[in-house]
Amino acid sequence: MSVVRIGPYTLPNQLILAPMAGVTDQPFRQLCRRLGAGLVVSEMVTSDVRLWNSRKSSLRMIHNGDPEPRSVQIAGGDPEMLAEAARRNVELGAQIIDINMGCPAKKVCNKAAGSALLKDEELVAAILDAVVKAVDVPVTLKIRTGWDRANKNGISVAKIAEQAGISALAVHGRTRADLYTGQAEYDTIAAIKQAVRIPVFANGDIDSPHKARSVLAATGADGLLIGRAAQGRPWIFREIAHYLATGQELAAPPLHEIERILLEHLSALHAFYGEVMGVRIARKHVGWYLATLPGAREFRTDFNRLDSTDAQYTHVRQFFAARHNKDNEVAA
Ligand SMILES: Cc1cc2nc3c(=O)[nH]c(=O)nc-3n(C[C@H](O)[C@H](O)[C@H](O)COP(=O)(O)O)c2cc1C
Repeated sequence: MSVVRIGPYTLPNQLILAPMAGVTDQPFRQLCRRLGAGLVVSEMVTSDVRLWNSRKSSLRMIHNGDPEPRSVQIAGGDPEMLAEAARRNVELGAQIIDINMGCPAKKVCNKAAGSALLKDEELVAAILDAVVKAVDVPVTLKIRTGWDRANKNGISVAKIAEQAGISALAVHGRTRADLYTGQAEYDTIAAIKQAVRIPVFANGDIDSPHKARSVLAATGADGLLIGRAAQGRPWIFREIAHYLATGQELAAPPLHEIERILLEHLSALHAFYGEVMGVRIARKHVGWYLATLPGAREFRTDFNRLDSTDAQYTHVRQFFAARHNKDNEVAA
Protein backbone atom coordinates (compact mmCIF):
# COMPACT_ATOMS: atom_id res chain seq x y z
CA MET A 1 0.00 0.00 0.00
CA SER A 2 1.43 3.34 -0.96
CA VAL A 3 1.96 5.89 1.78
CA VAL A 4 -0.04 9.10 1.49
CA ARG A 5 1.56 12.31 2.68
CA ILE A 6 -0.09 15.72 2.85
CA GLY A 7 2.57 18.22 3.94
CA PRO A 8 3.88 16.97 7.29
CA TYR A 9 1.04 14.50 7.77
CA THR A 10 1.25 10.83 6.87
CA LEU A 11 -2.18 9.28 6.58
CA PRO A 12 -2.82 5.87 8.14
CA ASN A 13 -4.24 4.65 4.83
CA GLN A 14 -5.34 5.82 1.36
CA LEU A 15 -9.00 6.39 2.16
CA ILE A 16 -10.52 9.81 2.64
CA LEU A 17 -14.09 10.77 3.47
CA ALA A 18 -15.17 13.23 0.73
CA PRO A 19 -16.61 16.51 2.03
CA MET A 20 -20.40 16.55 1.75
CA ALA A 21 -22.32 19.59 2.91
CA GLY A 22 -25.15 18.55 5.20
CA VAL A 23 -23.63 15.09 5.73
CA THR A 24 -20.01 15.15 6.87
CA ASP A 25 -20.64 16.97 10.12
CA GLN A 26 -18.52 16.31 13.19
CA PRO A 27 -20.44 13.23 14.41
CA PHE A 28 -20.18 11.59 10.98
CA ARG A 29 -16.52 12.53 10.57
CA GLN A 30 -15.65 11.00 13.95
CA LEU A 31 -17.55 7.85 13.11
CA CYS A 32 -15.92 7.39 9.69
CA ARG A 33 -12.49 7.97 11.14
CA ARG A 34 -13.11 5.40 13.84
CA LEU A 35 -14.34 2.93 11.22
CA GLY A 36 -11.29 3.18 9.01
CA ALA A 37 -11.11 6.46 7.08
CA GLY A 38 -7.54 7.73 7.00
CA LEU A 39 -8.66 11.36 6.70
CA VAL A 40 -11.97 13.16 6.97
CA VAL A 41 -12.75 16.60 5.55
CA SER A 42 -15.24 19.01 7.08
CA GLU A 43 -18.28 20.34 5.22
CA MET A 44 -17.39 23.44 3.25
CA VAL A 45 -17.59 26.79 4.98
CA THR A 46 -18.16 29.96 3.03
CA SER A 47 -15.20 32.26 2.54
CA ASP A 48 -17.40 35.17 3.66
CA VAL A 49 -16.32 35.37 7.29
CA ARG A 50 -19.16 37.83 8.04
CA LEU A 51 -21.54 34.88 7.76
CA TRP A 52 -19.69 32.74 10.26
CA ASN A 53 -21.80 33.92 13.19
CA SER A 54 -24.85 32.07 11.91
CA ARG A 55 -25.70 28.90 13.82
CA LYS A 56 -25.36 26.90 10.59
CA SER A 57 -21.86 28.18 9.90
CA SER A 58 -20.68 27.85 13.47
CA LEU A 59 -21.77 24.22 13.58
CA ARG A 60 -19.73 23.66 10.44
CA MET A 61 -16.56 25.01 11.99
CA ILE A 62 -14.18 22.45 13.34
CA HIS A 63 -14.52 21.63 16.99
CA ASN A 64 -12.67 20.16 19.89
CA GLY A 65 -12.59 16.45 19.36
CA ASP A 66 -12.33 16.64 15.59
CA PRO A 67 -10.03 13.86 14.41
CA GLU A 68 -6.53 14.93 13.35
CA PRO A 69 -5.26 16.06 10.96
CA ARG A 70 -8.20 18.44 10.87
CA SER A 71 -8.96 19.36 7.26
CA VAL A 72 -11.39 22.20 6.68
CA GLN A 73 -12.88 22.97 3.30
CA ILE A 74 -13.50 26.54 2.19
CA ALA A 75 -15.49 27.74 -0.82
CA GLY A 76 -15.66 31.10 -2.52
CA GLY A 77 -14.51 33.01 -5.57
CA ASP A 78 -12.44 35.89 -4.23
CA PRO A 79 -8.73 35.29 -3.57
CA GLU A 80 -8.44 37.70 -0.63
CA MET A 81 -11.62 36.48 1.04
CA LEU A 82 -10.50 32.89 0.66
CA ALA A 83 -7.08 33.76 2.05
CA GLU A 84 -8.70 35.41 5.06
CA ALA A 85 -11.05 32.45 5.55
CA ALA A 86 -8.05 30.11 5.44
CA ARG A 87 -6.16 32.20 8.03
CA ARG A 88 -9.14 32.30 10.36
CA ASN A 89 -9.72 28.56 10.06
CA VAL A 90 -6.09 27.88 10.91
CA GLU A 91 -6.46 30.10 13.98
CA LEU A 92 -9.47 27.97 14.92
CA GLY A 93 -7.43 24.79 14.66
CA ALA A 94 -7.49 23.67 11.01
CA GLN A 95 -4.36 21.67 10.13
CA ILE A 96 -5.13 21.36 6.41
CA ILE A 97 -7.10 23.82 4.25
CA ASP A 98 -9.01 22.30 1.36
CA ILE A 99 -10.35 24.51 -1.43
CA ASN A 100 -13.57 23.49 -3.11
CA MET A 101 -13.48 23.79 -6.89
CA GLY A 102 -15.52 20.67 -7.37
CA CYS A 103 -19.00 21.43 -6.20
CA PRO A 104 -21.58 22.15 -8.90
CA ALA A 105 -24.29 23.34 -6.49
CA LYS A 106 -26.12 26.39 -7.78
CA LYS A 107 -25.81 28.13 -4.45
CA VAL A 108 -22.06 27.91 -4.74
CA CYS A 109 -21.72 28.34 -8.50
CA ASN A 110 -23.92 31.41 -8.81
CA LYS A 111 -21.33 33.34 -6.93
CA ALA A 112 -18.61 31.98 -9.21
CA ALA A 113 -17.24 29.51 -6.73
CA GLY A 114 -17.01 25.72 -6.56
CA SER A 115 -16.47 24.09 -9.94
CA ALA A 116 -17.58 27.22 -11.84
CA LEU A 117 -14.09 28.53 -11.14
CA LEU A 118 -12.56 25.92 -13.42
CA LYS A 119 -13.61 28.07 -16.36
CA ASP A 120 -11.29 30.87 -15.31
CA GLU A 121 -7.74 29.54 -14.95
CA GLU A 122 -6.26 32.93 -14.11
CA LEU A 123 -8.63 33.26 -11.20
CA VAL A 124 -7.80 29.70 -10.13
CA ALA A 125 -4.11 30.63 -10.05
CA ALA A 126 -4.81 33.84 -8.12
CA ILE A 127 -6.91 31.99 -5.53
CA LEU A 128 -4.39 29.20 -5.03
CA ASP A 129 -1.46 31.63 -4.73
CA ALA A 130 -3.33 33.77 -2.22
CA VAL A 131 -4.42 30.89 -0.01
CA VAL A 132 -1.09 29.06 -0.06
CA LYS A 133 0.71 32.31 0.88
CA ALA A 134 -1.81 33.09 3.64
CA VAL A 135 -1.25 30.01 5.79
CA ASP A 136 1.60 27.81 6.87
CA VAL A 137 -0.42 24.60 6.83
CA PRO A 138 -0.79 22.43 3.72
CA VAL A 139 -3.45 23.54 1.24
CA THR A 140 -5.26 20.91 -0.83
CA LEU A 141 -7.59 21.37 -3.77
CA LYS A 142 -10.67 19.50 -4.95
CA ILE A 143 -11.68 19.77 -8.59
CA ARG A 144 -13.73 18.07 -11.27
CA THR A 145 -12.20 16.91 -14.58
CA GLY A 146 -13.21 20.19 -16.18
CA TRP A 147 -15.92 22.64 -16.97
CA ASP A 148 -17.77 20.44 -19.44
CA ARG A 149 -16.93 17.52 -21.71
CA ALA A 150 -15.61 19.80 -24.44
CA ASN A 151 -13.46 21.65 -21.91
CA LYS A 152 -11.79 19.09 -19.72
CA ASN A 153 -9.05 21.34 -18.44
CA GLY A 154 -8.28 19.22 -15.38
CA ILE A 155 -4.65 18.69 -16.40
CA SER A 156 -4.09 22.36 -16.85
CA VAL A 157 -5.67 23.17 -13.48
CA ALA A 158 -3.61 20.43 -11.85
CA LYS A 159 -0.40 21.99 -13.18
CA ILE A 160 -1.49 25.39 -11.91
CA ALA A 161 -2.12 23.78 -8.52
CA GLU A 162 1.29 22.13 -8.40
CA GLN A 163 2.93 25.40 -9.39
CA ALA A 164 1.07 27.26 -6.65
CA GLY A 165 2.30 24.87 -3.95
CA ILE A 166 -0.87 22.86 -3.44
CA SER A 167 -0.03 19.77 -1.34
CA ALA A 168 -2.55 17.30 -2.78
CA LEU A 169 -5.26 17.28 -5.41
CA ALA A 170 -8.58 15.41 -5.36
CA VAL A 171 -10.32 14.88 -8.69
CA HIS A 172 -13.96 13.89 -9.10
CA GLY A 173 -14.27 12.04 -12.43
CA ARG A 174 -17.09 14.17 -13.78
CA THR A 175 -17.24 17.61 -15.32
CA ARG A 176 -19.17 20.47 -13.78
CA ALA A 177 -21.79 20.12 -16.53
CA ASP A 178 -22.30 16.42 -15.71
CA LEU A 179 -23.55 17.32 -12.24
CA TYR A 180 -24.06 13.83 -10.76
CA THR A 181 -25.36 12.13 -13.90
CA GLY A 182 -23.74 9.27 -15.81
CA GLN A 183 -20.73 7.43 -14.49
CA ALA A 184 -17.53 8.90 -13.21
CA GLU A 185 -14.66 8.34 -15.67
CA TYR A 186 -11.17 7.67 -14.51
CA ASP A 187 -9.07 8.20 -17.67
CA THR A 188 -8.80 11.93 -17.07
CA ILE A 189 -7.80 11.29 -13.46
CA ALA A 190 -5.09 8.91 -14.72
CA ALA A 191 -3.85 11.60 -17.11
CA ILE A 192 -3.80 14.18 -14.32
CA LYS A 193 -1.85 11.80 -12.08
CA GLN A 194 0.73 11.43 -14.87
CA ALA A 195 0.98 15.19 -15.34
CA VAL A 196 1.90 16.25 -11.78
CA ARG A 197 4.10 15.08 -8.93
CA ILE A 198 1.83 16.05 -6.03
CA PRO A 199 -0.42 13.35 -4.54
CA VAL A 200 -3.61 12.86 -6.55
CA PHE A 201 -6.79 11.35 -5.08
CA ALA A 202 -9.44 9.79 -7.29
CA ASN A 203 -13.11 10.37 -6.54
CA GLY A 204 -16.51 9.41 -7.90
CA ASP A 205 -18.75 6.35 -7.62
CA ILE A 206 -16.36 4.29 -5.50
CA ASP A 207 -18.77 2.09 -3.61
CA SER A 208 -17.08 -1.24 -2.88
CA PRO A 209 -13.68 -2.74 -2.09
CA HIS A 210 -13.41 -4.11 -5.65
CA LYS A 211 -14.23 -0.76 -7.18
CA ALA A 212 -11.67 0.88 -4.93
CA ARG A 213 -8.95 -1.46 -6.08
CA SER A 214 -9.86 -1.08 -9.75
CA VAL A 215 -9.94 2.73 -9.55
CA LEU A 216 -6.54 2.77 -7.86
CA ALA A 217 -5.18 0.50 -10.59
CA ALA A 218 -6.81 2.45 -13.44
CA THR A 219 -5.69 5.88 -12.25
CA GLY A 220 -2.45 5.23 -10.39
CA ALA A 221 -3.91 7.60 -7.80
CA ASP A 222 -2.31 7.91 -4.38
CA GLY A 223 -5.60 7.69 -2.55
CA LEU A 224 -9.38 7.69 -2.87
CA LEU A 225 -12.15 10.01 -1.75
CA ILE A 226 -15.38 8.25 -0.86
CA GLY A 227 -18.60 10.20 -0.44
CA ARG A 228 -22.10 8.86 -0.99
CA ALA A 229 -21.18 5.21 -0.47
CA ALA A 230 -20.33 6.04 3.15
CA GLN A 231 -23.81 7.38 3.88
CA GLY A 232 -25.45 4.83 6.17
CA ARG A 233 -22.40 2.63 5.70
CA PRO A 234 -19.47 4.27 7.48
CA TRP A 235 -17.80 0.86 7.89
CA ILE A 236 -17.09 0.87 4.15
CA PHE A 237 -13.70 2.39 4.98
CA ARG A 238 -12.56 -0.57 7.05
CA GLU A 239 -13.94 -2.95 4.41
CA ILE A 240 -11.94 -1.24 1.67
CA ALA A 241 -8.82 -0.84 3.81
CA HIS A 242 -8.91 -4.53 4.69
CA TYR A 243 -9.38 -5.58 1.07
CA LEU A 244 -6.59 -3.35 -0.20
CA ALA A 245 -4.23 -4.61 2.50
CA THR A 246 -5.03 -8.34 2.31
CA GLY A 247 -6.96 -9.06 -0.89
CA GLN A 248 -9.61 -10.67 1.34
CA GLU A 249 -13.15 -9.41 1.78
CA LEU A 250 -14.18 -8.52 5.31
CA ALA A 251 -17.55 -9.97 6.34
CA ALA A 252 -20.40 -7.44 6.40
CA PRO A 253 -21.12 -6.17 9.92
CA PRO A 254 -23.70 -8.29 11.77
CA LEU A 255 -27.07 -6.73 12.61
CA HIS A 256 -26.17 -6.14 16.26
CA GLU A 257 -23.10 -4.17 15.22
CA ILE A 258 -25.07 -2.05 12.75
CA GLU A 259 -27.49 -1.35 15.60
CA ARG A 260 -24.70 -0.33 17.93
CA ILE A 261 -23.08 1.96 15.35
CA LEU A 262 -26.39 3.55 14.43
CA LEU A 263 -27.39 4.16 18.06
CA GLU A 264 -24.02 5.74 18.78
CA HIS A 265 -24.38 7.91 15.69
CA LEU A 266 -27.88 8.93 16.74
CA SER A 267 -26.72 9.93 20.23
CA ALA A 268 -23.84 11.91 18.78
CA LEU A 269 -26.16 13.79 16.39
CA HIS A 270 -28.60 14.57 19.19
CA ALA A 271 -25.82 15.82 21.45
CA PHE A 272 -24.15 17.89 18.72
CA TYR A 273 -27.22 19.60 17.27
CA GLY A 274 -29.64 19.57 20.21
CA GLU A 275 -33.21 18.31 20.20
CA VAL A 276 -34.87 20.16 17.30
CA MET A 277 -32.12 20.15 14.71
CA GLY A 278 -30.72 16.82 15.92
CA VAL A 279 -34.04 15.05 15.31
CA ARG A 280 -34.32 16.50 11.82
CA ILE A 281 -30.77 15.65 10.76
CA ALA A 282 -30.98 12.15 12.24
CA ARG A 283 -33.89 11.28 9.92
CA LYS A 284 -31.81 11.15 6.75
CA HIS A 285 -28.94 9.23 8.35
CA VAL A 286 -31.28 6.62 9.85
CA GLY A 287 -32.98 6.29 6.44
CA TRP A 288 -29.62 5.57 4.82
CA TYR A 289 -28.62 2.93 7.38
CA LEU A 290 -31.87 1.05 7.08
CA ALA A 291 -32.42 1.48 3.33
CA THR A 292 -31.46 -2.07 2.47
CA LEU A 293 -33.08 -3.84 5.43
CA PRO A 294 -36.52 -5.43 5.11
CA GLY A 295 -39.33 -3.39 6.65
CA ALA A 296 -37.37 -0.16 6.35
CA ARG A 297 -39.91 1.70 4.23
CA GLU A 298 -42.76 1.39 6.75
CA PHE A 299 -40.39 2.13 9.60
CA ARG A 300 -39.18 5.27 7.91
CA THR A 301 -42.65 6.72 7.42
CA ASP A 302 -43.30 6.39 11.16
CA PHE A 303 -39.84 7.45 12.17
CA ASN A 304 -39.98 10.67 10.19
CA ARG A 305 -43.02 11.77 12.17
CA LEU A 306 -41.25 11.50 15.51
CA ASP A 307 -40.14 14.76 17.01
CA SER A 308 -38.12 13.87 20.08
CA THR A 309 -34.69 12.38 20.52
CA ASP A 310 -36.00 9.81 23.03
CA ALA A 311 -38.70 8.60 20.64
CA GLN A 312 -36.16 8.27 17.82
CA TYR A 313 -33.82 6.26 20.00
CA THR A 314 -36.60 3.96 21.21
CA HIS A 315 -37.94 3.40 17.70
CA VAL A 316 -34.57 2.40 16.32
CA ARG A 317 -34.11 -0.08 19.17
CA GLN A 318 -37.56 -1.52 18.51
CA PHE A 319 -36.80 -1.90 14.81
CA PHE A 320 -33.67 -3.91 15.54
CA ALA A 321 -35.37 -5.95 18.29
CA ALA A 322 -38.02 -7.00 15.76
CA ARG A 323 -35.34 -7.87 13.21
CA HIS A 324 -33.34 -9.90 15.77
CA ASN A 325 -36.53 -11.83 16.65
CA LYS A 326 -37.25 -12.55 12.99
CA ASP A 327 -33.70 -13.77 12.46
CA ASN A 328 -33.96 -16.01 15.53
CA GLU A 329 -37.25 -17.45 14.24
CA VAL A 330 -35.58 -18.27 10.95
CA ALA A 331 -32.62 -19.85 12.73
CA ALA A 332 -34.85 -21.94 15.09
C1 LIG B 1 -24.93 15.74 -0.44
C2 LIG B 1 -23.60 16.09 -1.04
C3 LIG B 1 -22.92 17.22 -0.60
C4 LIG B 1 -21.67 17.55 -1.16
N1 LIG B 1 -21.00 18.63 -0.67
C5 LIG B 1 -19.75 18.89 -1.10
C6 LIG B 1 -18.97 19.91 -0.52
O1 LIG B 1 -19.38 20.60 0.41
N2 LIG B 1 -17.72 20.13 -1.03
C7 LIG B 1 -17.22 19.38 -2.07
O2 LIG B 1 -16.09 19.61 -2.48
N3 LIG B 1 -17.93 18.40 -2.63
C8 LIG B 1 -19.16 18.13 -2.16
N4 LIG B 1 -19.86 17.07 -2.68
C9 LIG B 1 -19.21 16.20 -3.70
C10 LIG B 1 -18.51 15.01 -3.04
O3 LIG B 1 -17.42 15.43 -2.24
C11 LIG B 1 -17.97 14.03 -4.10
O4 LIG B 1 -17.07 14.71 -4.91
C12 LIG B 1 -19.08 13.45 -4.97
O5 LIG B 1 -20.20 13.06 -4.20
C13 LIG B 1 -18.57 12.23 -5.77
O6 LIG B 1 -18.08 11.23 -4.91
P1 LIG B 1 -18.97 9.93 -4.52
O7 LIG B 1 -19.42 9.30 -5.80
O8 LIG B 1 -18.05 9.07 -3.72
O9 LIG B 1 -20.15 10.43 -3.72
C14 LIG B 1 -21.11 16.75 -2.18
C15 LIG B 1 -21.82 15.63 -2.63
C16 LIG B 1 -23.04 15.28 -2.06
C17 LIG B 1 -23.77 14.05 -2.57
